[in-house]
Amino acid sequence: MIQGNELQGSNNEITNILREVRITPEEAKKWLEQNVQPYRELMAYYRCAIMEIETKFNVLNEELSLKYDRNPIETIKSRLKSTESIAEKMQRKGIFPTVQSIEETISDIAGIRVICSFPADIYMLEKALLEQDDVRLVEKKDYIKEPKKNGYRSLHLIVETPIFLHDRKKLMKVEVQLRTISMDWWASLEHKIKYKKDIDKNVVKELEKELLICAEFGAKLDSKMEEINKRAHETGIE
Ligand code: GTP
Ligand code: MG
Repeated sequence: MIQGNELQGSNNEITNILREVRITPEEAKKWLEQNVQPYRELMAYYRCAIMEIETKFNVLNEELSLKYDRNPIETIKSRLKSTESIAEKMQRKGIFPTVQSIEETISDIAGIRVICSFPADIYMLEKALLEQDDVRLVEKKDYIKEPKKNGYRSLHLIVETPIFLHDRKKLMKVEVQLRTISMDWWASLEHKIKYKKDIDKNVVKELEKELLICAEFGAKLDSKMEEINKRAHETGIE
């Protein structure tokens, strides 16, 4: 699920920085205690928040599969934003990174992607998640009802949920992306093309045009499959 080598990377970078800056071992120790440990703790809290939300979806999947005799969730993928991406995002936003400013500024450090078979499942899961009394909706972007110009579709939710530590509870933000299989397939290919370097600009434009057409095919396929599934269910096939 979560890659644990991110902190390893950040520690190596910190060691290199400390080698360059001439400070005493005492000063270095103080700096590390003030910065590295709280950062490590923050990332551990985000990992816990991922576990909490992932469990909520697993519980819903289990319950709804008993009720409807099929799983509304195909796959759940989760990731913790890498130290490199956090640093890059803070720089892009022009905010000096401290443990506090990182937590306040970035709401997608903990990310969960829930992949469903049908669009209706997405909204059913959204409703079931947001009705839980320890989940608060912070932000919602519905790129299914209003797809992005390039054709991107998904439902994005930023939610806040508590994690229970030994002596207190802490509210954590998690970004949840809900999509169908076809939306996920499309987004993976688009992402690959977007970040591919050294492709001719005209070729990129051509591929973008084709992707937009595919996004529309995808939307049609999703709604047709949903309709067939509904009819099959009504005739007792499921
Ligand atoms: P940042 O979180 O700063 O990136 O901006 P934002 O909050 O405006 O982003 P948004 O909620 O629109 O999207 C956040 C995430 O959704 C991205 O990190 C991607 O995982 C995914 N996403 C958004 N737009 C696209 C897109 O056009 N293509 C693909 N493949 N993924 C996208
Ligand atoms: Mg975002």
